[in-house]
Amino acid sequence: MHTTGNTLLITGGGSGIGRGLAEAFLALGNQVIIAGRREALLKEVTEANPGMRYVVLDTSDAADIKRVASDLIATYPSLNAVIHSAGIMRQEDLRAGASELEATVGTNLLGPIRLDEALLSHFLKQPHAAIVTVSSGLAFVPLALTPSYSATKAAVHSYSQALRYQLKGTSVKVHELAPPYVQTELMGEHQANDPHAMPLKDFIEEVMGIFQHSPEAEEILVERVKPLRFAEASGGYQEVFTGLNDQFSARA
Ligand SMILES: NC(=O)c1ccc[n+]([C@@H]2O[C@H](COP(=O)([O-])OP(=O)(O)OC[C@H]3O[C@@H](n4cnc5c(N)ncnc54)[C@H](OP(=O)(O)O)[C@@H]3O)[C@@H](O)[C@H]2O)c1
Repeated sequence: MHTTGNTLLITGGGSGIGRGLAEAFLALGNQVIIAGRREALLKEVTEANPGMRYVVLDTSDAADIKRVASDLIATYPSLNAVIHSAGIMRQEDLRAGASELEATVGTNLLGPIRLDEALLSHFLKQPHAAIVTVSSGLAFVPLALTPSYSATKAAVHSYSQALRYQLKGTSVKVHELAPPYVQTELMGEHQANDPHAMPLKDFIEEVMGIFQHSPEAEEILVERVKPLRFAEASGGYQEVFTGLNDQFSARA
């Protein structure tokens, strides 16, 4: 995607990866609008970043997506890019049931699909536009502790490929950002300080470098995620799967 001159909506832009990308794109001269459910947090982030705007949006709510997307298009007619960073990741014990299934599918999978649906006809009228989905290394090797989460991320990977194929030859480019384990509060405070996770600042820097040097890249992959992304192709899938899951269950 172009790294300057966009009018860019970032869901989940109030924290973690979304906030990091929002600040980086703002610094490069983009109009950035962050979205999420917690208005106080969004307000705090926009106050800390003059020029950034926010909108309250619950991406698990189909009606909210429709309403907010049409307001955004009216307010920002140049809107031409979206990064789908909103997401939740919760542990589940499948022996007791997939307790987080609906919330996880609603937020991580239906959310981006519905938001793209609401924005697409507008994006197709722009000279250039970008949709950035956010999957995960766990799209390629599931973490058994978070089964619904891992399944939604595999589905986001699949959806991204289908969307890209359908939009071939149009002005809308589709990129899939697949982060490794990064220091954010996605699974709580401990993750933000976990030395096994990639520091957020390093992750954002590497991602922005890829966006700048490889604007056509279909997948945005930092070095740390490659063992998961290419586990199957490497021929060592079983080893990677067992290693990942044993490591996380030992720490859980
Ligand atoms: N950190 C990692 O290790 C990692 C690895 C791979 C992939 N990812 C992906 O990266 C993305 C960002 O996660 P993060 O690590 O930056 O965690 P985070 O700081 O918890 O960010 C998630 C954001 O999503 C927003 N959100 C959650 N549910 C929402 C909803 N229904 N509607 C609107 N916004 C919602 C949250 O804001 P509100 O609560 O205010 O709504 C929050 O700002 C997620 O898609 C995650 O799956 C992260």
